[in-house]
Amino acid sequence: MVRRMAASPVSKVWKAFKELIFCQVLLAVVFLTSGLVVDVIQGVLYVTIRPFNPALYRKVNYYVTYTLNSQIVFLVEWWSQSKCQLYIDPQDGEKYFGKEHAILLLNHTYEIDWVMGWLVCDRYGVLGNARVYVKKILAYAPVLGWSWKFQEIVFLERDWEQDKRNLGGQLNNLVNYPDPMWLTLFPEGTRFTPKKHAASMEVARQKGLPELKHHLLPRTRGFVASLPHLREKVPALYDILVAIDPKCKNEPSMYSIMKGREVRSKIMMRRYPMSEVPEDEKEAIDWLHKRYQEKDVLLDNFLRTGEFLSKEQKALPEYQNFQYVELPRRPYSITNFSSWSFVILIPLMWYLYTVFTSGNYLKMGIVLALVVAANMGLMKLIDLTRIDKGSSYGQQQQQQQENNSESDSSNQEEEPVAIIKPITNGVSNGKAKVH
Ligand SMILES: *[C@@H]1O[C@H](CO)[C@@H](O)[C@H](O)[C@H]1NC(C)=O
Ligand SMILES: *[C@@H]1O[C@H](CO)[C@@H](O)[C@H](O)[C@H]1NC(C)=O
Ligand SMILES: *[C@@H]1O[C@H](CO)[C@@H](O)[C@H](O)[C@H]1NC(C)=O
Repeated sequence: MVRRMAASPVSKVWKAFKELIFCQVLLAVVFLTSGLVVDVIQGVLYVTIRPFNPALYRKVNYYVTYTLNSQIVFLVEWWSQSKCQLYIDPQDGEKYFGKEHAILLLNHTYEIDWVMGWLVCDRYGVLGNARVYVKKILAYAPVLGWSWKFQEIVFLERDWEQDKRNLGGQLNNLVNYPDPMWLTLFPEGTRFTPKKHAASMEVARQKGLPELKHHLLPRTRGFVASLPHLREKVPALYDILVAIDPKCKNEPSMYSIMKGREVRSKIMMRRYPMSEVPEDEKEAIDWLHKRYQEKDVLLDNFLRTGEFLSKEQKALPEYQNFQYVELPRRPYSITNFSSWSFVILIPLMWYLYTVFTSGNYLKMGIVLALVVAANMGLMKLIDLTRIDKGSSYGQQQQQQQENNSESDSSNQEEEPVAIIKPITNGVSNGKAKVH
C-alpha cells in the first residue's frame, strides 16, 4: 500500500484545502444536482423504454447509474486518495470477476464498507450494475433512494410474508440483466455493535452454533428464500471481507472521505460456485453459518497479524493461490465527476458572482441559505447510509429470534429477512464499459 507522500508544501496546502467546508458544500452541490438530473433521466427511461425493451433499458441505465455511483468512487479514490488492496485468487479474478452475475456476501462493520465494495465494483467494471438488498424505507431517501427504484434494487419490507411474495419478481428482474450484475447481501442484517454481538452470541449458544468473535450470526431467512430465484442464472457467490488497515489513523467514515482524508483497506474475496450451495434449506443454512465461521477466523487473523491467512491456511488447497492484487483506478469516476462539476459549478459560480456584486441583500441571503441547505442535505444522506440507524430494528429482531429459537430452529429460522444494507454491488455491462 502506499505510504503517505513526503509532505511537500503544495500537498500540504492541498490537504488543508480539502478540509474546508467550502469544498464539501461544492461536492454536495454537484452530487445532489446531478443526482436529481439522474433521477429524472431514469424516470423517463423507466416509463418510455423499459416496458418495451427491458434489456435496452438496463444497458442504458448502466451508464446513468454509473454517473451517479461513480461520484462516490471519485471521492474515495481521487479526492481522498484512499486505497484498497484485493486479496484474491488471481485466476478467479481473470476468469470470473466482472464477467458473471454474482451474489456478494458482505459483512457490515464499518460505515463505509459498502463504499469500499463500490471501489471493487468499479475496478471490475460492474459499478453501474451494482445492486443491493435494502430496507424499503430507503426508497424515500432523496436522490439515491429514488434512483434505486429505477435501478430495480431489491427492497425489503419488515413483513416477511410480503417479502416472500415480492422477492421472486424483484430478483427475476436482476438475474435477467444483459450484463454482469453484482447483488450484495448483508447477511448480518445490521451493523456490528458490541451489544448486538452479545445478543447474537446468546442465540448461537442456544442453537448450539460455534460463537463468533467479530461477526453477528448471519440471518438465514432472506438468503435461503432468495436461492431458488438465483440458482439458475447466478453462477457464483463471492464471500467478501472488508478490513480497514488498523494502522490507518483516519476514522473509516464518509466524513473522513469528504474531508479528503485517506482510508486504507484490504478486501478478501473468495468465489464459491452456486453449485456448492446445498439445495436443501437446512443444509443451505448450515453452509452460510460455515462461511461466517470461516470469515470470523480470517478476520481474527487479520486483526492480530495484519494478514487474513495464517501460515497453515495458506498451504490449504483452497487458499494457496491467494495473492494481493492491485487493480489500477479507472479514470471514469474522475472524468464523470469533472464533467458534472464543469456543467454545474461554472454557471453556479457565475450566478453567485452576479448576486454578490448586485448589492441585493435579500438575494444574497437566499443564496447563502440554499448553499447551507444543500450541504445539510448531503450530510443527511450520508447519515442514511450509516447502518447503525437500523440498529434498533436489528436488535428487536435478534431478540425475537432469541425467544423463538429454543423451540423451533426449523421453520422460523431467524429474522425476517436477512439482509439489508445499502451497499453496493455492481453490475454492469460487461463489454462496453470495462477495459
Ligand atoms: C466484519 O465484521 C466484523 C464484525 O461484524 C468486524 O469486526 C470486522 O472488522 C468486519 N470486517 C471484515 C474484515 O469484514
Ligand atoms: C462516464 O463513465 C463511463 C463509464 O461507465 C464512460 O464511458 C464515460 O465516457 C464517462 N463520461 C465522461 C463524461 O467522462
Ligand atoms: C424476548 O424475551 C425477552 C426476555 O427474555 C423480553 O424482554 C422480550 O420482550 C422478548 N421479545 C419478544 C419480541 O418477544
